[in-house]
Amino acid sequence: MNDSGKTITIIGTGNMGSAILAGIIRQGLTTPDHVRAADKHEGRLHDLSNTYGVTTLTDNRAAVAGADVVMLCVKPQHIGAVLQELEGSLPASTLVISIVAGATLARLSSGLRHGCIIRTMPNTPAQIGQGITVWTATDAVSEEQMALARSILQAFGVEVQVQEENFLDMATALSGSGPAYVYLFMEAMIDAGVHLGFPRNVAEQLVVQTVRGSVEYFDTMKEHPAKMRNDVTSPGGTTTAALYYLEKAGFRTAISRAIWAAYERSVELGQGKMVHNPEK
Ligand SMILES: NC(=O)c1ccc[n+]([C@@H]2O[C@H](COP(=O)([O-])OP(=O)(O)OC[C@H]3O[C@@H](n4cnc5c(N)ncnc54)[C@H](OP(=O)(O)O)[C@@H]3O)[C@@H](O)[C@H]2O)c1
Repeated sequence: MNDSGKTITIIGTGNMGSAILAGIIRQGLTTPDHVRAADKHEGRLHDLSNTYGVTTLTDNRAAVAGADVVMLCVKPQHIGAVLQELEGSLPASTLVISIVAGATLARLSSGLRHGCIIRTMPNTPAQIGQGITVWTATDAVSEEQMALARSILQAFGVEVQVQEENFLDMATALSGSGPAYVYLFMEAMIDAGVHLGFPRNVAEQLVVQTVRGSVEYFDTMKEHPAKMRNDVTSPGGTTTAALYYLEKAGFRTAISRAIWAAYERSVELGQGKMVHNPEK
């Protein structure tokens, strides 16, 4: 689908906003003269203008004037200020797409005094076009706008539409924060390799290719992960010795509890609780 001619404004061009902008240009969803980047950082805007030839602005209200799509890509602590700036300025037909963690459809809708909104949760592999984005739309979003949103989200990875907004908080915990769990696991494995005596660069190479190969093998085989794990677990062997300690240390429960904590935090953020007590 080529939606050239649609004007897309991106508010907040940090890690995610600039990755989304790059994906939109790379996929030719619209022409660079129809893309507007708005941010507080003049230096960042200057780079985006030089690299992609997009229009850049530091005034959010001016940036959204006449836009078909407005993408909100600021941090959760800055969304209040952006909503205040834009309140009442969008025509009913403008599609707003938010990637802000915890910002609910109700909050976005009342803050903007606007009904046509899609809430999404992408993740950082979006920066290389390998993200996964879960999204849901308000009733005011038309079929045509949903198709446009799909093509924008596909510009930086895979997209999954859900009907209930609660799935957005679940996705925040599972896939939104997910890369951090994977990196922590990789870091722990690399450190264990160094503990065994490998030079760090060798340990890193072994771990990275093990993770990449395991994912690709899993994708090829399409079997249950437990079956694939059993296939590497010989009776009385090395893998079972390691798995015994992982299970004894509560590996699965730790992961499950951690993801539940992320889910609770996403719900809290949605209720405006910016300060978190991890021991509550
Ligand atoms: N990073 C992730 O893994 C991830 C994954 C999924 C979803 N998200 C969501 O993506 C959003 C953006 O995250 P990020 O990591 O890309 O943040 P980021 O790198 O900090 O980018 C946000 C940009 O917005 C700018 N900004 C702040 N206030 C603004 C305003 N009033 N108007 C215009 N621009 C403003 C920031 O400038 P300053 O630097 O001066 O503040 C910064 O350049 C967050 O809401 C997060 O929940 C992130």
